[in-house]
Amino acid sequence: MREAVRSGRLAGGTRLPATRVLAADLGVARGTVAEAYAQLAQEGWLTSRVGSGTRVTATEAAVMVPPPKLRLPSAHGRRLRYQLLAGYPDVSAFPRARWLAAARKALAAAPSQALGYGDPRGRGELRVALAAYLARVRGVRASPDQIVVCTGSTQGLALVSQVLRERGVTSIGVEEYSHPVLIRAVTSAGLTALTLSVDDDGAAVGSAGDADAMLLTPAHQFPLGPVLSPQRRAEAVRWAARTGALIIEDDYDGEFRHDRRPVGALQALAPEHVIYAGTASKALAPGLRLGWLVLPEPIVEAVAEAKSAADLHTGSLEQLTLAEFIRSGAYDRHIRRSRLDYRRRRDELVEAFARYIPAVHVTGIAAGFHAVATLPPDQDEQEAVGRAAARDVAVEGLGSYAIGHHSRGPALVIGYASPPGHAYTTALTRLCEAIASPPAPP
Ligand SMILES: Cc1ncc(COP(=O)(O)O)c(C=O)c1O
Repeated sequence: MREAVRSGRLAGGTRLPATRVLAADLGVARGTVAEAYAQLAQEGWLTSRVGSGTRVTATEAAVMVPPPKLRLPSAHGRRLRYQLLAGYPDVSAFPRARWLAAARKALAAAPSQALGYGDPRGRGELRVALAAYLARVRGVRASPDQIVVCTGSTQGLALVSQVLRERGVTSIGVEEYSHPVLIRAVTSAGLTALTLSVDDDGAAVGSAGDADAMLLTPAHQFPLGPVLSPQRRAEAVRWAARTGALIIEDDYDGEFRHDRRPVGALQALAPEHVIYAGTASKALAPGLRLGWLVLPEPIVEAVAEAKSAADLHTGSLEQLTLAEFIRSGAYDRHIRRSRLDYRRRRDELVEAFARYIPAVHVTGIAAGFHAVATLPPDQDEQEAVGRAAARDVAVEGLGSYAIGHHSRGPALVIGYASPPGHAYTTALTRLCEAIASPPAPP
């Protein structure tokens, strides 16, 4: 019953059968059921009132989520030839020659001490380069001293969650559809995830209720796609200022905005209340495992200490290379090139869907490099995923990203950056065929 309430299967307010009735149904003693009800009531899951029986405690928009059994959304599709998985940039376009040149230059210039143990916050060269880059491109307000370089933003989130937990934070609002890897990082640190609904204005930050912190993807909600509206941004910042809570801003693909300039980081509105998390995984390659945090001054030391305890620091040579890569302008150039390519791919996707499967509505296309395709209501999401797999196409259903109950209609989350350019049109055509082909008879 606890699981059913947690996952939202038993909605708040639902009236439970009388102990006598449930005991008879289950073939157990009435006292056993009464004892279970009493225990769940003590834990806050149920509420008993004389005269109106026992009901599931209403939790407003927030639903408690158990630590997920991790299933990487993309795990099942790795062996398939055409990968349309969200979160993957086109790694075949990795600028190898420029990266090598930056690595050579960085290593030649590095003092020998750079090969010893270093500052847990990361190399100064990279923190200086990041502070300037993030200010220029994302409007982030940061000094190099507030930056901690991490092994991907996933580690950054894990470290922050750990520090927050040590400081008494117990719950965190997360978007109702999110990346399970991030939710695992949060819950593994002992935080309880409370889901925030998402609409066209982004996460309903007002439903954070009593959460002690919030994790948001303001630039491009992952995976649904809306941008957090100005009103919601202001509301989130007011909430943080009023409650003293911290907001974690996951700016995973903030540089990729297709039709106008990227919306700046939320962090700029309230640097003292927002922890900014960024990554090279989307702009360059996930295999680099380079990410960064920009922290409010009062928690820098604690997060640096947690980083030191986790792995001393992230590899120095990769950091020095990235610093040189950013300084030389190669990072900007690569992003510009990728953005053009991804926009072309996005337009091709929208056109192909409009032509071949007009009943399928594509959303979340203003930014990033994934989109959500809402299937006709009579289609089964997992069957569509299966039909795509039968055509050698890996794609995920939206349900793979549901944190709790998958409450929306059938939809696919399509990452349109991951196939190499030469394979993209074929991947798209096969996906359209899979969606258009009639569902298997029952
Ligand atoms: C929304 C989002 N944020 C952050 C990450 C983590 O990226 P990394 O740990 O590679 O920096 C991912 C990974 O897929 C993601 O989808």
